[in-house]
Amino acid sequence: MSITRTPGQIARARYTTKAYDPARPLTATQVEELLDVLYLSPSSINSQPWHFLIAADAQARARVAEGTQGAYAYNAPKVRGASLVLVLAARREMTDDHIAAVLDQEQADGRFASEEARAQRAQSCAGFVELHRSQLHDARHWMEKQVYLALGGLLFAAGAMGIDATPMEGFDPAVLDNALGLPAQGLGSVVLVALGHRGAGDFNATLPKSRLPRGQVFTWL
Ligand SMILES: Cc1cc2nc3c(=O)[nH]c(=O)nc-3n(C[C@H](O)[C@H](O)[C@H](O)COP(=O)(O)O)c2cc1C
Repeated sequence: MSITRTPGQIARARYTTKAYDPARPLTATQVEELLDVLYLSPSSINSQPWHFLIAADAQARARVAEGTQGAYAYNAPKVRGASLVLVLAARREMTDDHIAAVLDQEQADGRFASEEARAQRAQSCAGFVELHRSQLHDARHWMEKQVYLALGGLLFAAGAMGIDATPMEGFDPAVLDNALGLPAQGLGSVVLVALGHRGAGDFNATLPKSRLPRGQVFTWL
């Protein structure tokens, strides 16, 4: 796949899709490409404090749609109509076992030239974890920030691939978590993403983009 548009062109062209064409599914190759982008997303201390649930058929999407009832019903048609819906979840706790698993993986992947190198890295990781757990008391928030970073990469990648997308905070995490059994896995849903191709009823496709004036957003130092 070659991408011929500049990053700015991609950013100007992508937008939040409000209605999907159920007759135009993503290909298996496109899905794998998007999952690779999530899988390889960077995270603080390579903590990868996430899990991504993949809903790629009507039954799975209906399970995710359980979280878009009542006040969030406006998002239900996107969840049901898109080709692929991803639940981006974060760990509820940053455990020592999880960090040890990351270090073991880094070792298996050949990132430590010596035991000393691993020990240094373990100490650095422990320092960050301790900072968020015991000083800032924001470990869960810290992990959710990593999930949002993955969201950003995914949305840009989808745009680059000509795939339409909808990020969604409009759902009930408690309802969805219970429907998917996430609490028992030590996980909590953070944000949903619907992906596919826009449908005829997508009112947002022809609306102009709107952002605050550049002068309010940038300061050249
Ligand atoms: C984290 C996040 C959550 C969002 N939640 C929803 C949502 O629940 N439903 C929806 O239709 N749009 C949602 N949006 C879309 C935003 O309204 C949209 O990104 C913003 O208005 C900018 O428009 P654009 O994405 O078309 O450039 C969300 C966007 C982000 C980044």
